[in-house]
Amino acid sequence: MRIAVYPGSFDPIHNGHLDIIHRCRPIFDALVVAVLRNDEKQPLFSVRERLEMIGELLDPYDECRVESFSGLLVDFVREADAGVVVRGLRAVSDFEYEVQMALMNRRLNDRVETVFMAAKEEYSYVSSRLVKEVFFLGGDLEGLVPHPVLTRLGAKRRRSRQ
Ligand code: PNS
Repeated sequence: MRIAVYPGSFDPIHNGHLDIIHRCRPIFDALVVAVLRNDEKQPLFSVRERLEMIGELLDPYDECRVESFSGLLVDFVREADAGVVVRGLRAVSDFEYEVQMALMNRRLNDRVETVFMAAKEEYSYVSSRLVKEVFFLGGDLEGLVPHPVLTRLGAKRRRSRQ
């Protein structure tokens, strides 16, 4: 079984992330989307909300599941019986940070390989950070985030207006 882990904050998951997930499906036998539990960050969506949204999106795909993790990614990868970490690369600006993480992870466990996938051009400028900025400034996110996220963003907007 070739099992891969696709880790991230996913706050929120956007269509660039989903594209990477879809392109992983024919390559690996199983894919675990791993949501980092980070107590330091003030997230827009709680980990529970993120797991729910990603769970809804992965529901049609038997070989994909979502879990949360804390601590070292390589430990989570080992516990998931996986050997590969998947990360998306959007632009050269992602490269330095991503390679640092890949090298550190290899140093921590040299049986874990990192595989980079180039983001689809149409999503190469999309990040969770910009999605949040556009949301807080009232912009339209249709086409950039999947429906479970759009629905919850709409609910958050309505609640904030009450
Ligand atoms: O989507 P993000 O926020 O860029 O994802 C970053 C993530 C979750 C992949 C990274 O922060 C991570 O792997 N954190 C776990 C902590 C860890 O293992 N650190 C040491 C190796 S860099």
